[in-house]
Order: sequence, then structure tokens, then C-alpha cells
Amino acid sequence: MANAGKYKVFITRSDMPEGGVELLKKQCEVNIWKAPLPIPRTDLIKSVSGVNGIYCSLTEKIDAELLDAAGPGLKVVATISVGYDHIDVAECKKRGVKIGYTPDVLTDATAELTLALLLSTSRRLPEAIHEARTGGWVSWAPTWMTGPGLAGAIVGVVGFGRIGQAVAKRVKAFNTSQILYFNRSERPEAKEIGAVKVSFDELLMKSDFVICCAALTPDTKEMFNKSAFEKMKRTAIFVNTSRGGAVDQEALIEALQNGTIRAAGLDVTTPEPLPLDSPLFKLKNCVILPHIGSAAIEARATMSELTANNILGALNGTKMPAELQ
Ligand code: DGY
Repeated sequence: MANAGKYKVFITRSDMPEGGVELLKKQCEVNIWKAPLPIPRTDLIKSVSGVNGIYCSLTEKIDAELLDAAGPGLKVVATISVGYDHIDVAECKKRGVKIGYTPDVLTDATAELTLALLLSTSRRLPEAIHEARTGGWVSWAPTWMTGPGLAGAIVGVVGFGRIGQAVAKRVKAFNTSQILYFNRSERPEAKEIGAVKVSFDELLMKSDFVICCAALTPDTKEMFNKSAFEKMKRTAIFVNTSRGGAVDQEALIEALQNGTIRAAGLDVTTPEPLPLDSPLFKLKNCVILPHIGSAAIEARATMSELTANNILGALNGTKMPAELQ
């Protein structure tokens, strides 16, 4: 452990889970932004000047301007997220700044939330809760509040990395008839899960449930567009727990409004937070969550510790437990 003590680390918000913050405080000079909210850009630019490590989250854009502001002493940027679309990876690499992230430790939490959102959307839980609370529940009724079940359904998972596979494993327990996946490369793990690789179009056309677990990259940006929604079944349910940027949101709104698809469950939107006047909030067939995929208490605590250990590894010259290669 050694010499991290001479290093300065900036943490971008005041409410990062304690464990990781304490780990850093033991070895480094730590400066923490004062508020439990995303730090304004101008304050961020000022605060990183001269630091050696930045502990950030997905709400901070780490780009050339920010790296310039930090200066040549910056050795590592560690994000408390598995997604890193907010970080200019090429720019960091060019400057020799290492990047830490938090794969694996949030896989179960995110897969659990994906299933919760899928079932909330298909079985209309927010609507049903509202009816129960507001007098709409006049009697048991044979066709009221019905929605499609998962048993016997075909489920398509787009993006078959750690989270996509964890979702597929859980979905299978609901006695689905088939699991299809679309991914850049064939995934050997699919065999054991019993998932079949198909083209994006085939997945869209055949699936009763389409779940987006794909990381946001130039290839996946707005891959769920008008043409994609038009290929889906009119009875299909779309779920997104990856990034809002994977969806052309205007096209989704239109598809939900005119019945091109049945419903959508979104944990991620563009922008975030979603403005209260967004048409998505007016749609009964859209369930929206405030980006809480990894928000299991245990997952967030482990993510924070991993973020800190990534920073300490980079500063001490030892192995970072989760370095983005
Ligand atoms: C991630 O880690 O990228 C999630 O979206 C937030 O936990």
C-alpha cells in the first residue's frame, strides 16, 4: 500500500456510499463536492485542478476539457458505474489516464430490477396500484387489469454481456418458450442458458418481450428507432435498463401512442431526469423508473469500494481490480 498518501483525489458528490470514501480517506488527501447532487460543470472543472484521481459517477462528463483542467498529474478516473459512455476513453488513453469502472458487482442487482420492471409493465402494476388506492377497484373482474404472461413467451435480449445473460437466466425460470439474443459476437455462455443468437430484425419480429441490455456505443445509439418498433409485434413489450441513448425516444413515444407496440418499461431515458412534461409520463402503457438498476444496497456499497480500490490500485502502481482495457 504504500504511497497513495501523497496523492489528491476528488469525489464528485457528497453522498457516495461510505465504504469506498473511507478507504480513500485512509490513504489519500480527499476532497469531496459539498452536495448530494451532480456537481455543476464549472465547479467540476475548478475542483479537479491538480488532482491525481477522480471518483465520479455517470452524471459527470469526462472529456478533453476536463482532463486539461485536471492537468498532467491526473492518473486515474474511476466511475461508480459499469457504463462508461460518459467518459472519453480515447482521450484518457492518449494521456495515459487509467479508467476504473464497476462490472460484475451490479449484475445481479440490475438483472433483478430488469425483471421487476418487465413484470410491472406487463402486469400493469403501477396502474393496478393506482386503481386500488383511488376506488377503481369495484370488484374482482375477469378481464380488468390483464396483461400478457411470461410463461410460454418468446423473450429477446439485445446485448448479451454479463447483465443480458443474468436477465436471460432469470427470465428462463418463468417457463418462457424461447430466449433469443442479439449481440455483436456469439456468446459461448448462451448454450448453457439455452439462448439462441439471431439477427436484430429476427429478434424484433419474433419476441413477445424485447429487453435492451446493450451498452451505449456508436453502434447501439438509437438502434431502437421507428423502423425497429415497426418490426416488433403489436403485442410486444419493450424494456430498457441500459441507456436512454439506445432508443430514439420520439419514435418510442409514437409507437406507444399509436399501438405499434403494447407497452414499455424504462429505467433509463433521454434526458435524465426525464422532464415532468414528457409525453412518456402521460402514457398508461409506459412504466418509468428513475435509473435505479443497480440500486440494491449491497451492490452500491460494493461499487463504491471497487471504485476506491480502482483509484488506489492506479495510484499505488498495483493492479486495479477493474480497469477498463
Ligand atoms: C451503470 O452502472 O452503468 C448503471 O447504469 C448505474 O448503476
